[in-house]
Amino acid sequence: MIDFNKEYDIENEEALAKFAAQLATQIKAPFIIYLKGELGAGKTTLTRYFLKALGYEGSVRSPTFTLIEPYEINGQKLFHVDLYRLHSPEEIEFMGLRDYFTDDVIGLIEWPERAEGLLPSPDLVCQITIQGTRRLIRLHTAKNT
Ligand SMILES: Nc1ncnc2c1ncn2[C@@H]1O[C@H](COP(=O)(O)OP(=O)(O)OP(=O)(O)O)[C@@H](O)[C@H]1O
Ligand SMILES: [Mg+2]
Repeated sequence: MIDFNKEYDIENEEALAKFAAQLATQIKAPFIIYLKGELGAGKTTLTRYFLKALGYEGSVRSPTFTLIEPYEINGQKLFHVDLYRLHSPEEIEFMGLRDYFTDDVIGLIEWPERAEGLLPSPDLVCQITIQGTRRLIRLHTAKNT
């Protein structure tokens, strides 16, 4: 069981894959995960292993330009969002982003800081810090972060 208010020292990418897979088994919709951390921290990589663990077999592209990528895996709807290239808050309104997150959806949102106050609040915040090939993952469930 992953504790949603703990820190995890992740040794390598393989360990991250296990972590993401475990996370995937513990999460049920509606659920919003904020993925924080610098460029290359592993936010997309975590998402990729998370989707794979749920049974997704296709390729997971980083939605850097599309901002949002929808998935439906064995009946479970998910949205992978990456707001790094968000130009303005209006873009969020224009996309109707909030409307995507209905009760039957799991959302994984990279760079949520880019749209502070315009997103649904997170059920879990996952802050990833790079330490060579290790990653420190701090989890917390506090709202409004
Ligand atoms: N322990 C590890 N956990 C995760 N990724 C790792 C690890 N070690 C090495 N990597 C590599 O680090 C890179 C992480 O890139 P990724 O695209 O997932 O980062 P990101 O946080 O999504 O960045 P961005 O902000 O640009 O979207 C990948 O190339 C991955 O293979
Ligand atoms: Mg990414």
